[in-house]
Formats: sequence, C-alpha cells, structure tokens
Amino acid sequence: MKKWSDTRAPGGRIAYVNGRYLPHGQAMVHIEDRALQLGDGIYEVTSVIGFAPIDEEAHLDRMERSLRELGIAMPMGRPALKLVMRQMIARNRLADGLLYLQVTRGAVRRDHVPPKDPPRPTLIMTMRAQDMTALAARMDKGIAVSTQPDIRWGRCDIKTVQLLPNLLAKQAAKAAGAFEAWLVDRDGYVTEGASTNAWIVDQDGTVVTRDLSNAILPGVTRRIMLEAMAEGQVKVAERKFTLTDALNAREAFISSATGAAVPVVSIDGKVIGNGAPGPLTQRIYALYAARAGIK
Ligand code: PDD
Repeated sequence: MKKWSDTRAPGGRIAYVNGRYLPHGQAMVHIEDRALQLGDGIYEVTSVIGFAPIDEEAHLDRMERSLRELGIAMPMGRPALKLVMRQMIARNRLADGLLYLQVTRGAVRRDHVPPKDPPRPTLIMTMRAQDMTALAARMDKGIAVSTQPDIRWGRCDIKTVQLLPNLLAKQAAKAAGAFEAWLVDRDGYVTEGASTNAWIVDQDGTVVTRDLSNAILPGVTRRIMLEAMAEGQVKVAERKFTLTDALNAREAFISSATGAAVPVVSIDGKVIGNGAPGPLTQRIYALYAARAGIK
C-alpha cells in the first residue's frame, strides 16, 4: 500500500496549522475542533502548476462565500492568506500539486449551537503532489462514470467538509469500475459528480451543465470554463439534464480543480458518443487552460 510519505516533497511535506508550519506527520488540531466533532467547517482545493495556484481569486471568493453562509469568520485577510499559500508551495518545494485549505469554526466545548463568542477559526493547509501521469492518461483515454442516487443535503452550494454522501458515492463508483460518480436527483436529473461538475454536449452541439442552485457546488473550474467558452463562442446552456440526455450525448466531461474537462467515455457501462474523448471537450480544455494561464 502506498504511504503518504511516498509522495512527499524532497524536504518532507510541510503543513500549516493556525500560524505554524510543521512537518506533515506532526501537524494536528484539537480534539474538540468543531470540524471533527460536528463537521463544522469548509474547504477549498486549488491546483498548483509551476509554483502558482490556479484560479486563486475565484477559489478565495468561494471560500469567503462558504464562510459567510455559515457565519464563520475569515481566519485572516486575503493578502495574508495568499502569503501563507505561497509559503506552503515554497516550503513544500512542489512546482505542481494540490493545495488544500480547511477552515473550521474552531475548538470549543462540544455543543450543536455555535458559541456566542466564537473561538478563533482553525486554518489548515496541506499540500501534496498530483499524479500528472495518471491525469494525462485520463485526459487521453477518458473515464468511466457510474450513476448513484444524490442523497446529499439541501445546501450543496457550500463547500463543507461534510463529505460522507460524496465519498460513499465515489466508493460505489469505484466498486463498479468507474472513476467518478454522477449523482442523480429524485426526478432523474444529474446534479453533479461526487467531486466534480458534470457536463454533456447534446446532439445540437450545445454544451450543457446544470444551472447554479443549492443543489450543486458552484465549481471554480466550471466558472472559468464558462468564461472561456463565452470568449471562444462555444454554444452553452446552463440547465438541468437527465441521465437519458447524458446517455444520448455526443460528448461528456467533468471539471474540477483536480482536472479540467476530463472526458467521460462511458456512463454505467454504456458508451458515450464514439467511446473516445470528444473534439469539443478537447477544445474546451484548451480554452480553459489558456484562460487559467496553464501551459
Ligand atoms: N472537489 N462539485 C463537487 C461536489 C466538488 O467537490 C468539486 C470539487 C467540484 C468542482 O469544483 P472546482 O472546480 O471548484 O474544483 C464540483 C474538490 C476538487 C475536492 O473535493 O477534492
């Protein structure tokens, strides 16, 4: 089995916890932290390429929104946060990887009701290498998707650390031989992936992705991709689509900070399009990469 230490940066992985940079294996939070006790926290994931965080402002915009929605204070101002992110990248000496930020309501005696005088929010950052060879293989060959019932709560627009339904769906998808789960609501509409946004290209060549609501996470990659598509004059519709629509699609793909426009070539074992990554998906990746500054 692969241990965390197999992927560590040359100098050893470094994590950030509440003002301190520590060896990853020694970085800890208090046992009464509300994220551990109650799932009371939010997170962000940004891709790091060439020592630079990708789509940084948009991720920080969403982080501020998630915190605002839950009434948790920003742990520090945005310039300071950006400084810590850069310190993390430098100290981990990782040119390419994934940077994780978690903010919790803090450590305080357990009570469902958040305290009137809130404790200092906990801020954690961790970084790890991304398997770029595996990502390239997914871009090249496409991935299989398995559909799972969307059993999540009513505020999927907040990026909370409460990920049980997502991980169970992903586990079921993996058991079915798929890379990602597409979550299907009670009315038969696809909401999104367990950790990605879901997209199809319909028979008219229109790119379709679910419109924003409490039912999905407003993906940062989704947002930047939509801007890139508008600029590239790609026909897009933000609306609901059913599983049947997806099965009849010309192309399908997923998006997230961990992989933009990754082609989907099968859903529940049924081939999408001609079973190979689609040309529009590849063009959308190129448009996104140019906008996000990825070479
Ligand atoms: N997941 N939908 C869900 C449910 C997600 O968890 C994610 C991101 C996305 C895509 O959002 P973005 O483009 O901002 O990464 C959509 C991250 C990568 C994760 O949980 O690891």
